[in-house]
Amino acid sequence: MTDFQQENHKLTADEKLNLLVEFGTRISSELRLDKLLDIIARQITRMLNVGRCTIYLKDIERNELWSKIAQGKGLEHTEIRLPLDGNNIAAIVARTGQTINLQNAYADDRFSMAIDMVTDFRTHTLLTIPLKNNTGKVLGVFQVANKADSTPFDNKDEGILLLLATLAASSIEIAKLYQDIHVAQLETIYRLAVTAEYRDQQDTRAHLKNISIISYLLALALGMTKKEAELIKNASPLHDIGKVALADNILLKPGRLSDEEFEIMKSHTVYGGRILEGAHSKVLQVAHKMSLYHHEKWNGTGYPKGLKGEDIPLEARIITVADVFDALCVSRVYKKAWKTDDAYLYILGEAGKAFDPRIVAAFKKIYSSVRKLYLNQTPQTQESPAIKAEAPKAPVSIPQKPLPPQP
Ligand SMILES: [Fe+2]
Ligand SMILES: [Fe+2]
Repeated sequence: MTDFQQENHKLTADEKLNLLVEFGTRISSELRLDKLLDIIARQITRMLNVGRCTIYLKDIERNELWSKIAQGKGLEHTEIRLPLDGNNIAAIVARTGQTINLQNAYADDRFSMAIDMVTDFRTHTLLTIPLKNNTGKVLGVFQVANKADSTPFDNKDEGILLLLATLAASSIEIAKLYQDIHVAQLETIYRLAVTAEYRDQQDTRAHLKNISIISYLLALALGMTKKEAELIKNASPLHDIGKVALADNILLKPGRLSDEEFEIMKSHTVYGGRILEGAHSKVLQVAHKMSLYHHEKWNGTGYPKGLKGEDIPLEARIITVADVFDALCVSRVYKKAWKTDDAYLYILGEAGKAFDPRIVAAFKKIYSSVRKLYLNQTPQTQESPAIKAEAPKAPVSIPQKPLPPQP
């Protein structure tokens, strides 16, 4: 939904043509659905010189129409949802595929004033048309309100809006498909990660969620772009994927691992590296570095390669801090959960030893947010009464106080 300061000048034919070309160019290069809908709504608002343009899309699974509010104090990016089988203008147009043109919206009982009330807007005239793809399937509706010159919408306006909807339909379908694929990819990655972690951890979801949030915050604090930070966030759950290759007698052994067993345990990094080697997608390329190098240490005493300093990929240096911090803060069969502040002090103490000092400095910056994250979690993940104080056996560096961290 977009509201604009309306200009009172009529566009010339040349200006309209230019806007049409600009419209086609801009929408065809945008794959992010939210951004695309915003561009479309803004362009329509300009071309038809209206007070508001709202794009509703069908959500078949929920049998609803949805739209985002782009304007209105405190309402930016709020989602509006309407029942698709309801008696409101947008739903009727979406169901019937027929245009509805109201000259006085408030006089029509199918019009709902609710959205006007929350957005502090008064609808007078309202034109709602179906958004159809090239097979005639209705994807949603375009709705415009209040022409700048206060005249009712006419056939010409309807024609322009239908033309813009036709131009926009395929871009919207592609962006929706792209979004679906992206969501499916992330879900697959996440479920794969759960599979790897599930064998030896019951609170897998909390661990994966925590480390992805901490990695994301660290990446941003290090000055990475939002896009780079999201890659790190999305790849982080796969850091221990190599565990799938470990035998039960090693991974699930309740007591301390022998030196020989520990050597086998360490190989989960190499297996993870092999599983993700040669990946084409960026997220899996990042996950590859994380899984292979997440037990390397800044001072060169880690494994599998004993890399030192900046020879360790940055993505791995980030996940290491997140992974160790979370491992310290939760209870395991072999150790109690540490208090978050103690775990924090431990991380600080390992700057220049296990961890990159730059990343520890970034951790310092984000710690207040991290602390809040753990305060909101269930006490079971923070403290467990039935814990045996035994040596760590997990591949993650989990020290028991006052022992120094193990590999
Ligand atoms: Fe982990
Ligand atoms: Fe690991």
